[in-house]
Amino acid sequence: MNPMNPTPASPPRTKAAIEARSLAKTYPGGVEAVASLDLVVPRGSIYALLGPNGAGKTTAVSMLTTLTTPTSGQAWINGLNVVEDAASVRRSIGVTFQETVLDDALTGRQVLEFHGRLYGQSLRERRRRADELLELTELTEAAPRKAKVYSGGMKRRLELARALMTVPSVLFLDEPTLGLDPQGRTRIWDYVSTLRRTSDLTVLVTTHYLDEAQQLADCVGIMDAGRLVVEGSPDDLIDALGSDTIRVRGQGVEEAIDPRFADVEYVESFTRVDGGFLIGVDSASRRLTDVIARAADAGFSIEDVSVAKPNLGAVFFQHTGRSLREGAPA
Ligand SMILES: Nc1ncnc2c1ncn2[C@@H]1O[C@H](COP(=O)(O)OP(=O)(O)OP(=O)(O)O)[C@@H](O)[C@H]1O
Ligand SMILES: [Mg+2]
Repeated sequence: MNPMNPTPASPPRTKAAIEARSLAKTYPGGVEAVASLDLVVPRGSIYALLGPNGAGKTTAVSMLTTLTTPTSGQAWINGLNVVEDAASVRRSIGVTFQETVLDDALTGRQVLEFHGRLYGQSLRERRRRADELLELTELTEAAPRKAKVYSGGMKRRLELARALMTVPSVLFLDEPTLGLDPQGRTRIWDYVSTLRRTSDLTVLVTTHYLDEAQQLADCVGIMDAGRLVVEGSPDDLIDALGSDTIRVRGQGVEEAIDPRFADVEYVESFTRVDGGFLIGVDSASRRLTDVIARAADAGFSIEDVSVAKPNLGAVFFQHTGRSLREGAPA
């Protein structure tokens, strides 16, 4: 048993690429960043961890990548315990960090080749691999230039290439597209999709961009305040909301609202949230008038009504009562 981790080591329950069981981290000072995380990510799939600032995504990734020791619970990468077998885990994974970490003194090519050397690759091997990855991330031409003169998007691509130098079987990307323009974001995702198609790479990605998660992830987990609040395929999560979502904001006797919609045949989901409620219906255009009338009947004073096709933003809103980004529409 590792003295740093009071949970006795036990074998994983699945053959998944990533498995976490009751994984938790409380930082010194008492911040419970991850309360209890259970996660199973099958080999060859893309899993997106979503959540607002401070939800615990980076902390979860840090534990899974052996950089932070869990306070309790366990996790395995390809069946290897992240605490007991940390060195082997590190050899089988690739990581990109939320903050850019590049040695400014090195050229793009050197960044990659040094990384390969650190992991014991022969000169030939690291040259060949660097060539391949520079090509993949469209940096061949920029390779002789210092990384410090790269644009934000090029730096992100170089970091992705670096994470792939050691041919990892599991790739962790913490906000890989943060701050990039839409074109830059698309490029990163194109590379990841290509890799997934051409290998059995497993990817765990954290992102604030719901549309990316919706399009690319096989499974999405929404974290809030250190816990997974909901998990599933984007389609299932969105379907569960109903065909259209009507969001009603205002003030009034909110308890009186629920019974008004309890047995209505067109209502597919109903969620009371701070300052109003969210209602999934078969067709917003046909039901809007009735929804408003029922709310008014219940003494609810309506300030704003909006209609949206359900997306992951609405799923997030349903489960947390907040928008993923402060002020952003759900
Ligand atoms: N090294 C640390 N020491 C103390 N508290 C920390 C440390 N790192 C993170 N925290 C706290 O833990 C909580 C979770 O932070 P974390 O970075 O894991 O969240 P996140 O979901 O990645 O957020 P973001 O979307 O902003 O990247 C926050 O309250 C944060 O302030
Ligand atoms: Mg983070």
